[in-house]
Amino acid sequence: MTRRLVSPTLIGRSAELATLRAAVDGREGETRPVVFVRGDAGAGKSRLLDELRRSLDDGGRRPGTVFALGHCVLGVDGALPCAAVVELLDDLGRAAQEQAMRESVDAARQLFVGEPDAAIAADAAGTAPAGAMRWLEAVLGAVQAVAGDGRVVLAIDDVQWADAGTIDLIAFLARRLARSPSVLLLAYREREARLRPEVARCLDDLETSWLRDSVFISYLGDREAVQLVDAIAAAPMPRERAIRIARRAGGNPLFLEQLVAAEAEAEAVAQQEEEAESVAAAADRVQPEGIYPWHLSDREREVLALVGAGRTNREIAESLFITDKTASSHVTHILDKLGVDSRVEAALAAAAAGLVRTEQEGAESGLDGDIFQGSPDAGRARPR
Ligand SMILES: Nc1ncnc2c1ncn2[C@@H]1O[C@H](COP(=O)(O)OP(=O)(O)O)[C@@H](O)[C@H]1O
Ligand SMILES: [Mg+2]
Repeated sequence: MTRRLVSPTLIGRSAELATLRAAVDGREGETRPVVFVRGDAGAGKSRLLDELRRSLDDGGRRPGTVFALGHCVLGVDGALPCAAVVELLDDLGRAAQEQAMRESVDAARQLFVGEPDAAIAADAAGTAPAGAMRWLEAVLGAVQAVAGDGRVVLAIDDVQWADAGTIDLIAFLARRLARSPSVLLLAYREREARLRPEVARCLDDLETSWLRDSVFISYLGDREAVQLVDAIAAAPMPRERAIRIARRAGGNPLFLEQLVAAEAEAEAVAQQEEEAESVAAAADRVQPEGIYPWHLSDREREVLALVGAGRTNREIAESLFITDKTASSHVTHILDKLGVDSRVEAALAAAAAGLVRTEQEGAESGLDGDIFQGSPDAGRARPR
């Protein structure tokens, strides 16, 4: 599973937020209570509702504004019945300051979640015309009670997934909240809403008679998309890469988040592999066998250096003031430790490990031989 990365700051959208804020605040004598927030999936509708809630919370908040939010939810067999309504009532309950407000909210909430009465459950699903008004009035009563002298901003998100009961409530509240200071804010995916005739018809009716304003959330422009990539990437990202991701996502904030998260994950996997490789390489190095001459004793290293320089056992014995037999036994041990079969291979290992210098280097260093100690403890291993 890819971890979700979200920008803590809102990128751009100041114009959209200002328009939405003005729409929600309304003009003097406003009679239409409905505001639409439209856009494709992932464009940032829900985020804008969040930001609006925040902007109503701090600074500029009109006295007595309560923000309540509910989401329509798609279940296995289609929309969950009245999921948004229950959520709205929960928010209203939290905001209710007085006992009478709480009672009113509880009474409405009972109709949805507390009552084992089949007739009322059927009402709530909007299938029993005789009693259908009962729960609608109860919800309106709760909204009015909590609004008091102020107002409630009732936001319903993902209206494209609204069930029959929620569609009924929307149509009902649009009429009953007209000429009150309260607002019905509806966010939805334009295309998907159009695919459901009952939702499309409801939205068309609202547009004709009750719509105050509509805010469309388009995709982010290139500059803002790159800003968003920077804001969600864990570490600063090279500019070309940020631009490439921004373009690939076409400015859709949700796709941007997913692409950055996927890249971060791929990077973490690559880094883990790299670490695993370097651990394996380190493990190789500490193997006693192999072509790493620093596992040899000082004396053996001296001998190997001379082997690398092409000296015979006799010559080695002479330079080190040891017997031929001792020199030969050193060479045998060295071949064993290096896991090679011949002096030539040993000489190659010595060269690979930097134990042998070229004639030129030897001459420059002032050493008489063409040998050189490239091991970590080279200082102790000079030929005498
Ligand atoms: N302007 C923005 N700045 C920062 N993050 C954003 C912006 N717009 C959207 N996002 C983020 O992109 C993701 C998708 O946005 P969301 O509001 O859920 O889309 P929608 O509701 O339109 O499907 C969310 O994680 C949201 O926080
Ligand atoms: Mg959303």
